[in-house]
Amino acid sequence: MDPVFRELHSGLDREAPGDEATTRAALRLTGLSGPVDILDLGCGPGASALTLLAALPEARVTGLDLHAPFLETAGRRAAEAGFGDRFTAVEADMAAPPFPLASFDLVWSEGAAYSIGLEAALAAWKPLLRPGGRLAFSDAVWLTDRPDPRAAAIWAEYPAMTDAAGVWSRIEAAGFARLGDLVLSDAAWDDYYRPLAARLAALEGRHGAGHPALREAREEIAVRRAHSGEYAYMFFVAAR
Ligand SMILES: C[S@@+](CC[C@H](N)C(=O)[O-])C[C@H]1O[C@@H](n2cnc3c(N)ncnc32)[C@H](O)[C@@H]1O
Repeated sequence: MDPVFRELHSGLDREAPGDEATTRAALRLTGLSGPVDILDLGCGPGASALTLLAALPEARVTGLDLHAPFLETAGRRAAEAGFGDRFTAVEADMAAPPFPLASFDLVWSEGAAYSIGLEAALAAWKPLLRPGGRLAFSDAVWLTDRPDPRAAAIWAEYPAMTDAAGVWSRIEAAGFARLGDLVLSDAAWDDYYRPLAARLAALEGRHGAGHPALREAREEIAVRRAHSGEYAYMFFVAAR
């Protein structure tokens, strides 16, 4: 991994659009409460896990990610918040989660399913849920079928990206029942982009704004400002 890219993405509280209010709103759509077992796939540095642990004081959260430094951060943050005994970090591939069938009441994932593809994620994650268990994940969706070329370029690495109806048809084709969805607010995008922009400015000072990883991140933030009507991040909540 490019060291400047790595530096840009270390020490941030979250690695995708989202905020505490969104996580709590999506959790309400699941209807779950009490001593539930939650698996947070692609948990990154642990923002969603912390919110889930705070919102459900009896729940246990397993955070899974491939990137060990994120897991260390998530574990440290959970311990600092007093949730250390209810959080477990697992370094593994979300395409093949190493858990017995029907181990969880809730499978959660923020901004990460796209990395293995939605269909593969749904197929790999469904057997982990107990009957009646809930699935909640966020994903980028198109709001137009004619995006501006700059917006299209930002999402070129996600060619399977579709609209909300397309995501729902994949969820339902995988055998889940629809519970609800929500669109992430501008505040939720800011929660990710504001700290990222501050980090970017510092790194541009050291490495120059022409560094490819920095130029790409700068463009991503600028395109969001200019073309926010063309794509969104949404949470999708379904039942097994
Ligand atoms: C865009 S980040 C989102 C992180 C976190 N959910 C958040 O909102 O801050 C995607 C995360 O998925 C993880 N990831 C990507 N591919 C993965 C895979 N195949 N298995 C497990 N984790 C993966 C990355 O390491 C990263 O932490």
